[in-house]
Amino acid sequence: MKIIIINGPNLNLLGKREPAIYGGKTFDSYFEELKTKYSSLELESYQSNVEGELINKIQEVGFSYDGIVLNAAAYTHTSVGIGDAVKAVSTPVVEVHISNTHNRESFRHTSYIASGAKGVVLGFGLKSYDLAIASFL
Ligand code: DQA
Repeated sequence: MKIIIINGPNLNLLGKREPAIYGGKTFDSYFEELKTKYSSLELESYQSNVEGELINKIQEVGFSYDGIVLNAAAYTHTSVGIGDAVKAVSTPVVEVHISNTHNRESFRHTSYIASGAKGVVLGFGLKSYDLAIASFL
């Protein structure tokens, strides 16, 4: 089973970025833990700060992979294009957020991804990614 985690803008700074909200661990070190835990899966990760590159990646994998775990980060709240890409592909997408976006600023309460997603996992720290992967099994 082939699953990809796609991370949007500023998630390359996990570990350094607002640790009180996003924690002190880098994504790379957490991803190693996930690969060990889910060693029977083909697990990949991709990150970009660029909206169009995220759309390109969703299109590239979205007809052949078994699952996409998508944290579109700030683009969640702004990007009709990423929302449309999620609806355009046949691979199911689970939307993920590290923080509970619903107890933060009101602009974070809107998601252009959620209506096209299979489900949404948010607020469990990095564990949100783990729970999203588990949802495909
Ligand atoms: C985030 C929440 C977004 O509102 C924010 O812009 C992010 C990270 C999260 O994982 O909690 O960059 O997607």
